[in-house]
Amino acid sequence: MAYTTLQLTTQDAIATVTVNRPDKLNALNTTVIEELGQAIAALERDSAVRGVILTGAGPKAFVAGADISELASQSPLEGKARSLAGQAVFRRFEALRKPVIAAVNGFCLGGGCELAMACHLRIASDTARFGQPEVKLGIGPGYGGTVRLPRLVGRGRALELLLTGGMIDAAEAWRIGLVNRVVPAERLLPEATALLGQMLAMGPLAVAAVLEAVDAGFEMPQAEALLLEANHFGLLSATADMREGMAAFLAKRTPRFEGR
Ligand code: COA
Repeated sequence: MAYTTLQLTTQDAIATVTVNRPDKLNALNTTVIEELGQAIAALERDSAVRGVILTGAGPKAFVAGADISELASQSPLEGKARSLAGQAVFRRFEALRKPVIAAVNGFCLGGGCELAMACHLRIASDTARFGQPEVKLGIGPGYGGTVRLPRLVGRGRALELLLTGGMIDAAEAWRIGLVNRVVPAERLLPEATALLGQMLAMGPLAVAAVLEAVDAGFEMPQAEALLLEANHFGLLSATADMREGMAAFLAKRTPRFEGR
């Protein structure tokens, strides 16, 4: 599939999706959102893809937010529809049962920060900067910022970012738990690839089950989430991967998982 605003490459079971509008700091216009939706649908279906890295083109930005030139003229109903459409696409990244890492290579603002937060993990270059500047434009976040930011960093820290529109650097983003790791800019993609590689060496059914348990369990009462975990624990006992994992441990060799 040919994309006009994304680059999609696959190597060694890892798909790298690059938002590619560097002249506009990779701002999310309608086409980017639509193409992200098409890309995530293709990645869901493609059994050769086992993990995803999401990043931005150029040295300056991951994604500097929704495209303000489109927002400037929207009606209330268009605004609501834009928000719901973006939320649905971002949710598909979050709900993917293959690990997704945001490799944040620069400005990660507004919809960019919301997109990164919909990924399972975030690795930032030391040049990255984060913020939810929507209030400076007289709007609020529309792609999940008020929902995912408090869950990631706590309500007080989230509200400080959401209400001031201020930017923080990568070190501060790490300190408050917004990103998992900070690495030198030139190490960003190698580190993201290595971290994803570690996950892809695990049993794929187990990885999918953990993603599902954490994703679905997060919204459930504790007793239901614990039951879901127990069901996964039991179900995975029926897999060849479990037998292989345990046999390999006992034989002191590396397991060869086949995802069945
Ligand atoms: N939407 C549309 N265009 C954007 C954009 C956005 N969110 N962010 C940057 N751009 C465009 C600029 O308009 C500029 O385009 P031009 O060269 O055609 O004039 C280009 O990207 C480069 O940005 P510029 O502002 O010149 O870079 P800078 O280094 O001076 O500033 C930022 C970088 C990120 C601080 C600044 O671009 C900015 O504040 N962007 C908006 C961030 C935002 O509010 N996001 C939330 C939107 S809801």
